[in-house]
Amino acid sequence: MGTLEGKSAIVTGSGRGIGRAEALALAAEGAAVIVNDVDADQAEAVAAEIAAAGGRASVSTEDVATWAGAEAVVEQALDEHGRLDVLVNNAGILRDAMSFSMTEADWDDVIRVHLKGHAATSHFAGAHWRARAKAGEQPSGRIINTTSESGLYGLAGQVNYATAKAGIAAMTIVLGRELRKYGVTVNAIAPRARTRMTETVLAGLEPEEGRFDEWDPANIAPVVAWLAGDDAADVSGQVFVVFANRLHLMDGWDLANTIETEGRWTIDEFRARKAELFADRSSGLPRMGFGS
Ligand SMILES: NC(=O)c1ccc[n+]([C@@H]2O[C@H](COP(=O)([O-])OP(=O)(O)OC[C@H]3O[C@@H](n4cnc5c(N)ncnc54)[C@H](O)[C@@H]3O)[C@@H](O)[C@H]2O)c1
Repeated sequence: MGTLEGKSAIVTGSGRGIGRAEALALAAEGAAVIVNDVDADQAEAVAAEIAAAGGRASVSTEDVATWAGAEAVVEQALDEHGRLDVLVNNAGILRDAMSFSMTEADWDDVIRVHLKGHAATSHFAGAHWRARAKAGEQPSGRIINTTSESGLYGLAGQVNYATAKAGIAAMTIVLGRELRKYGVTVNAIAPRARTRMTETVLAGLEPEEGRFDEWDPANIAPVVAWLAGDDAADVSGQVFVVFANRLHLMDGWDLANTIETEGRWTIDEFRARKAELFADRSSGLPRMGFGS
């Protein structure tokens, strides 16, 4: 028996890369999976792969970054499986450029696919779980979002993507708070893997015969399958960096220091107390990441 037997799942953007590995893993644990991707051929191939391995899968080619597309994919899960338990928001694109060179289309496309593509599906899935809870059922919904270290640390050259991914980290906590009373958990992963999206930056890090392939997208999937299952019912609002054989639990914005004055601040007082404010910290740009 798999840990997701009898459950119904959607994985957006699962025609290739990390989403494909996640869809395969959820299906291997017994979930019936909607393989969603705007690339129909890729989605068909993944659904066929799942069926060949004895799993249940069907294809959705909806653009999840529209309210209509998101509604259709959620409806498909309900029509075909009678229920929805797991929503993995994974679909994504890159249009990298420095902020001063970025086009309006690069900005809009990336913000739309990532931010709206997470919000729209979560809207319809959340409405479904809320309705079930109000009807007296006890849903155990799961939303697993996909953020990025680019968004957590602010990578130069990706102002559109990093902004969207930081928004997804914030969205994860908001959705977690809003849906908690309906039995839904919401978490986010920030993966690192070799996919179409990263193949140019990871050139030279090809798998070596006989060695554990740290960059295989399949390394990301078990965490998602675990978060999707009953054991993770008490895990919500969390962000994990997932790479190779390591799972990093992240801590978000937190208070660093407070200084206080009598009445309203003056610029002279800030000048005088700047060293106290920053204490032993740098007042410059924050560090970029934590290595591997
Ligand atoms: N690969 C990495 O190291 C890495 C790092 C951090 C975050 N991520 C995130 O992981 C997720 C998966 O990325 P990947 O590396 O597997 O990329 P990928 O390009 O291999 O796969 C993304 C898939 O999403 C699909 N897609 C794009 N827009 C869509 C839409 N509107 N509706 C439905 N499907 C759509 C694409 O057709 C594609 O098949 C993305 O959200 C990405 O930002 C990846």
